[in-house]
Amino acid sequence: MAAAIRLARRNQGQTGTNPSVACLIVRHDASGSHVVGSGITQKGGRPHAEPVALAEAGELARGATAYVTLEPCAHHGATPPCAETLISAGVARVVTAVVDPDGRVHGKGHAMLREAGIAVEAGLMAQEAKDGLRAYLIHKTMKRPQVTLKLAVSADGMLGVRGSGQVAITGAAARAQTHLMRARHHAILIGSGTVIEDDPELTCRLEGLQARSPRRIVLDPAAAIPLGSKLMKTASAVPTIVAASSDIDPARRDALAAAGCLVMPCETVGGKVALPELLEDLAATGIMSLMVEGGARVAASFLEAGLVDEIVLFEGPVEVGNDEGAIPSPVTASTLPAGFEECDRLVLPHVAAGGKMLGTDIMIRYVRADQE
Ligand SMILES: NC(=O)c1ccc[n+]([C@@H]2O[C@H](COP(=O)([O-])OP(=O)(O)OC[C@H]3O[C@@H](n4cnc5c(N)ncnc54)[C@H](OP(=O)(O)O)[C@@H]3O)[C@@H](O)[C@H]2O)c1
Repeated sequence: MAAAIRLARRNQGQTGTNPSVACLIVRHDASGSHVVGSGITQKGGRPHAEPVALAEAGELARGATAYVTLEPCAHHGATPPCAETLISAGVARVVTAVVDPDGRVHGKGHAMLREAGIAVEAGLMAQEAKDGLRAYLIHKTMKRPQVTLKLAVSADGMLGVRGSGQVAITGAAARAQTHLMRARHHAILIGSGTVIEDDPELTCRLEGLQARSPRRIVLDPAAAIPLGSKLMKTASAVPTIVAASSDIDPARRDALAAAGCLVMPCETVGGKVALPELLEDLAATGIMSLMVEGGARVAASFLEAGLVDEIVLFEGPVEVGNDEGAIPSPVTASTLPAGFEECDRLVLPHVAAGGKMLGTDIMIRYVRADQE
């Protein structure tokens, strides 16, 4: 199951509104355990993992054990349900990690298998598997995307300095991790303040993964972000959504649309985009995972609204100082909101521009304890 959980990560963020699930077909005999078929939910969400793994196993699936990270589906579409495909292939035993909360499947996949005489063991490594399935589980049960708040925090707890543009808090290795996170999410969100101050591109620029840049969303009630910003200039290549108030000037809306943006009319409260309603609307468009990359006010709003499921902090060795304009982070490792628990920690070399080693950056991932 651990191998299946690792395999499932490969297509995370690329399977539409289907979860990225993995299935291993394993034959256990006197000489040991042999994987005879492996499958993962294919890009776009179909086919599911089980038929892919069974096709690879062929006749060797007969009498074998299937390890699947999520309960096999039980409902008919144009193709038969995966539970039925496992039955037809003659597997003897099915081991699953997480029960599918989808009402069409919930418990029914397991029941179909048991009725066919297959031994079913559910719940193996459920906690570990949930980590990769969390976006699907939250989307399905809470009707909103999973929200990951990612911030780079200086050694003295700052996010940057107002008026200084992007402040290099972390090194290249940490930036590469950020790009990898982007590739695994359906969308990235920032506030208009960050567009104006930093002019970021918000794409995945890792060699070979450039095509995996997710949609970019800007909270911009007045639709005031500059048409000359990098986001606007690349909007026809990388989908870009401006979450604006529904009463913006139509000429402005047309200008943003002409630049290639989708202008999303939003409800506002006190002049700010209403976050729960926005998340509901994004979920309805199939966005299951959202990476919030700042800035300070947007991060604070998501935290205050209790809409953050995971926090990823990159702590750099550099001090920004407390001068006028320094922006304190609304969250640091020592000011974590209640209910979050550390689940991963990665130490990365911090090599500054010019190749100088400045120390280490630490990437810490926290998950809400009630979702572990
Ligand atoms: N270190 C890091 O990880 C990191 C990451 C990103 C940014 N930054 C830094 O943060 C600074 C920008 O932060 P910021 O606080 O000025 O800007 P911000 O959080 O990026 O954007 C704030 C703006 O977003 C709009 N907004 C709409 N709905 C909102 C809502 N529900 N809650 C909050 N804001 C909403 C508002 O625009 P209106 O004013 O039009 O209403 C608000 O002024 C920059 O200096 C940047 O370098 C650091």
